[in-house]
Amino acid sequence: MALLEIRDVVKTFGDFTAVNHVSLAVEAGEFFTLLGPSGCGKTTLLRMLAGFEAPDSGEIILDGRNMANVPPEKRPVHTVFQNYAIFPHMTVAQNIAFPLKMAGVPEPELKARVEEALEDVRLQTFAKRFPHEMSGGQRQRVAIARALVNRPRVLLLDEPLSALDAKLREQMQIELITLQKEVGVTFVYVTHDQGEALALSHRIAVMNKGQVEQLDVPEAIYSYPKSRFVADFIGQCNLLDATVREIGSDRMKIEIAGVGMAEALPVEGASVGKTGALSLRPEKIKLGVTLPSDDPDEVHFKGRVHDCLYLGDVTIYIIELDNGMLVETMLPNSDPGKAKFFDDNDAVELAWRFDAGHFLPA
Ligand SMILES: Nc1ncnc2c1ncn2[C@@H]1O[C@H](COP(=O)(O)OP(=O)(O)O)[C@@H](O)[C@H]1O
Ligand SMILES: [Mg+2]
Repeated sequence: MALLEIRDVVKTFGDFTAVNHVSLAVEAGEFFTLLGPSGCGKTTLLRMLAGFEAPDSGEIILDGRNMANVPPEKRPVHTVFQNYAIFPHMTVAQNIAFPLKMAGVPEPELKARVEEALEDVRLQTFAKRFPHEMSGGQRQRVAIARALVNRPRVLLLDEPLSALDAKLREQMQIELITLQKEVGVTFVYVTHDQGEALALSHRIAVMNKGQVEQLDVPEAIYSYPKSRFVADFIGQCNLLDATVREIGSDRMKIEIAGVGMAEALPVEGASVGKTGALSLRPEKIKLGVTLPSDDPDEVHFKGRVHDCLYLGDVTIYIIELDNGMLVETMLPNSDPGKAKFFDDNDAVELAWRFDAGHFLPA
């Protein structure tokens, strides 16, 4: 049985539904992420797990126990907030001891548990330091140690890194993955940052308007988005309007409006005549003045360079197809001394493997 089960949970505020029939299960030891745009209900769902809000209907089962009548302080969870809220005037040991003091844990036990928490996050030698004497990553460890001191089964983290600049955030993300692996505690992590979710999580629930749109491992979310919303929200993605023309056993033919026929993998919900979009990641598209066309598994089209965006490590080329449709492609600038392969208005050919894209029925 999963460690945490959310069953058909609904939460409304007045006539607004913030969480709309969400069901999901989180396994012990998992780094599980709720990902979605601002306002989609992530924090509300997390607050219901913590017990700060009660669902209108549905159930939250933690460790086999229904949480319905369990107050926040009695739940085996701990919430970690943005910036970690470490007390600057307290030492590391005092910070970690704080929740135990509040709970009235007697001195000898308190000392032993602080020691244990310090060991968990490998900060034994930092007990007497103050937060300003430590790096961002070490302060993150203090916050996690303080969160672990009451031995929760699940840590709830609500956008803890969102206020940091990009470089520090990346360092902290790397440390957070290591830390979660080391301490082995289950994380339910909230973020609106798709890159962060892909980098950190074992599994991701992508939320939109109070509902889970897709729940899967990061690679599947990225490569096989199930809806336009997910394709669009996760990374850069071309969405080419298309209609299904023929369905075979292992591939189907789709017509990209005004451009021509292409092959794609058959998908659930597709039928002849069905309209939708072909989702295609920029990095899956080959680009050249001409490209060899002897591979029957490849789809080929001609176009013209509409715009180039030099980003240092890669250059983005926006290609205009014959029907005026714009397709974003991306080439790494790995050749020494080469910063750009094409210029505006160059005639080019693009190609992708038939299974690189993914048809999304409308
Ligand atoms: N206490 C509340 N009263 C009224 N509306 C709320 C309350 N809490 C959240 N909401 C609304 O519910 C929606 C989801 O909020 P929230 O869960 O905070 O989203 P997220 O964390 O994904 O940004 C938002 O539109 C928000 O305004
Ligand atoms: Mg929020």
